[in-house]
Amino acid sequence: MISIIPKPSECKQKDGFFTCQGALTVKSDFMLELLKCERSENSTLVIIKESSLSEEGYTLDVTKDKIEIKAADETGAYYALQSLRQLCRFELGESKIPCCHIEDKPRFKWRGLHLDESRHFFGKEEVKRFLDNMFMMKLNVFHWHLTDDQGWRIEIKKYPLLTEKGSVREYTQINGWQSTDVVNERYEGFYTQDDIREIVEYAGKRGIMVVPEIDFPAHSASAIAGYPWLACRELFRDVPGYFGSKIPVLKLKMRDWNRPVCPGKDTTIDFIFDIIDEVCELFPAPYFHIGGDEAPKDEWKKCPCCQQRIKDNNLKNEEDLQGWLNNQILEHLKSKGKRLIGWNEILKAGNLDKSVVVQYWTPKRDKNAERFVNNGGSMIMSNHHSFYFDMPYGQYPLKYTYDYKPEKFGVNNKNVSNILGVEGENWTEWTDSREMLDCRLHPRMEALAEVAWTEDGNKDWQDFISRLNEFKPFFEKLDINYAVDSISMPKGIGGAVNRTKRQKMFYKGDTHLEVKLNKKFKAQGEK
Ligand code: ACM
Ligand code: ZN
Repeated sequence: MISIIPKPSECKQKDGFFTCQGALTVKSDFMLELLKCERSENSTLVIIKESSLSEEGYTLDVTKDKIEIKAADETGAYYALQSLRQLCRFELGESKIPCCHIEDKPRFKWRGLHLDESRHFFGKEEVKRFLDNMFMMKLNVFHWHLTDDQGWRIEIKKYPLLTEKGSVREYTQINGWQSTDVVNERYEGFYTQDDIREIVEYAGKRGIMVVPEIDFPAHSASAIAGYPWLACRELFRDVPGYFGSKIPVLKLKMRDWNRPVCPGKDTTIDFIFDIIDEVCELFPAPYFHIGGDEAPKDEWKKCPCCQQRIKDNNLKNEEDLQGWLNNQILEHLKSKGKRLIGWNEILKAGNLDKSVVVQYWTPKRDKNAERFVNNGGSMIMSNHHSFYFDMPYGQYPLKYTYDYKPEKFGVNNKNVSNILGVEGENWTEWTDSREMLDCRLHPRMEALAEVAWTEDGNKDWQDFISRLNEFKPFFEKLDINYAVDSISMPKGIGGAVNRTKRQKMFYKGDTHLEVKLNKKFKAQGEK
């Protein structure tokens, strides 16, 4: 049986098998330096450059005595090899490949996966593994969330306190949003600029573009910890270890967990531009994510500098002040050939330049976002319901990811072409280890890959499930702690009860419940 995730556009099985005798050798028009096969003129694996094929697309023909790949670019050739990898299963001990003809190309250009390393820091080796797994699924955008209130994780040479102070917190909230419990341990970590270059290069070799996210104006408490003059009021505060929400705020008067910078001061604008200048040197991607979500306006309302800025620029209110700031940043990025990406709240500003890229995430439907995309705006779809992989499966089972359709979130059918693509989000407030990250991410990432790659009419849930079962030996081989079926897709009445219970327990503070149950079920032999 031919079993590949994400499902190829066309796939015809033929009679017979190619049987591998000894190691494969390759003859290729592309460099393919990651391919470890020996090169030889008389090879059974032949890779041909065929310019008429589409970007990232390929054909793959397996006959009894030959494997032939055609692609227009190196990424397409690599993707053919990824399909071949799932087809041949040599690394799982098999030696026969069914003869077949495959034609394949992606549905969306933007097939993204995000990782928040502010809340928990995973480090270079884990990120490389994350990229390897993306590569296998033909995902091609790594959205790297490098700064947030709870930690600044990228070295900036002009502002050393961003990492000296901003990458360290003295405690970390545990047991969920409503809890005041903390672990009183120093938590730290950041990437040097050399580390960043290494990751960007590693990703690039796998056809993956790395898009940095550096948050302004809000989610900036770790920057303000190093440079208090960035805020409207110069308060000296350490990096917060609370992730927000009502309980810490009401019980502990912890109002400083999500502090915005002050857009009224020219020094703030200079600071932002300086950071952008350094970051842009490290990331060749033509995009720059500035966050822009959840920006509280209460300090701006009381700040003389912010109010003066509003007056000087005839702005309507504080939302438009954020719009004004975004427009400044956008122009600065434009001069470097880059587009600004922001979360959909940035559309609250009436004066925002429409050349921004908006990433739609909010659990609540947003009329502004839907109007934007239906009027030609560029959008990345990360709707909570399907693509927030930090949420328990009890809340969002696997099928919510697989069944994703942009039309369900207000994108008119004729405007789907305005969508750059889709992206899965891995926020890490309650994801503090590789084991947790794996369990929440797999097999959601495989479902995301199929949404991103495979034409909608070619998708089929039952067919995906049977291919997923065929894929599970790869999870084992690659040491990926995937969620078993009774976690990722609880079935029947018992399943519905379990789902509700697990969701409830998550919000009551048992944030690790599903990963604990997963371990137990796996030990009992579940797949
Ligand atoms: C977000 O989850 N606040 C973008
Ligand atoms: Zn201010």
